[in-house]
Amino acid sequence: MKTSGGSDAVKRRAGESAADVVGDGDVIGLGTGSTAAHAIRRIGERVDAGLDVRGVPTSFASRELAIERGIPLLDLDEAVAPDAPGVDAPGIDAPGIDVAIDGADQVAVGEGNGAAGSGVGPLIKGGGAAHAREKLVDAAADRFVVVVDPSKESPTLDRPVPVEVLPAGRTAVAEAVRAAGGEPTLRRAERKDGPVVTDNGNLVLDCAFGEIADPGALATTLATTPGVVEHGIFVGLADEVHVGTETGVRVTG
Ligand code: 5RP
Repeated sequence: MKTSGGSDAVKRRAGESAADVVGDGDVIGLGTGSTAAHAIRRIGERVDAGLDVRGVPTSFASRELAIERGIPLLDLDEAVAPDAPGVDAPGIDAPGIDVAIDGADQVAVGEGNGAAGSGVGPLIKGGGAAHAREKLVDAAADRFVVVVDPSKESPTLDRPVPVEVLPAGRTAVAEAVRAAGGEPTLRRAERKDGPVVTDNGNLVLDCAFGEIADPGALATTLATTPGVVEHGIFVGLADEVHVGTETGVRVTG
């Protein structure tokens, strides 16, 4: 699984700290990335010890890891709407998602960054190209816990924003991003001569905007661009952040 930012030990402290907030009977959103993977492994250990939970994966990778670690799984539809077409559990109350645990590529911290309804600032996600499903699951959760190392904290969001695009919309979206002041780059696979293809069969444009003064406005611009499946700006969704450090874990929010 892709690793970026701080040391693995620091990521592990953050992931395991978040996994320890999970309670018996919870439905858990299982995030993607190297830090969220530590949370999944810890939840697996707790399941081995008798914890009764079900996980909703945000990607093929988190699904595979959860299966390997013995965590029972649910589809997002089963968790939020068992009466939905195609879901074979009519008449059963949706359990909902109690807590989602997910990583981030950048977290805005400090004065002025706390969003309405959440003490945590906006995030950039999608380094693992999983942000479309991550946003669905993280937004559906009663409590969204972000797990990061300190290298992810920044007073202002300034990392490139991952934008998942329909393959046929790649050029049109790239032009719209340039018109909005960004510079798009098609994400390429590290060891393959081709583009990254998401779990949904789409492409990713990493869009550099420099310092993002108004993440909410940029989120709206991207969300309303035809051809965009989902972008990696998460505004007002996170409830708390567990930051792994060299000596422990700092929890904010
Ligand atoms: C995947 C993500 C990841 O959560 C994000 O890239 C952080 O990954 P890591 O914990 O490996 O640094 O958004 O789409």
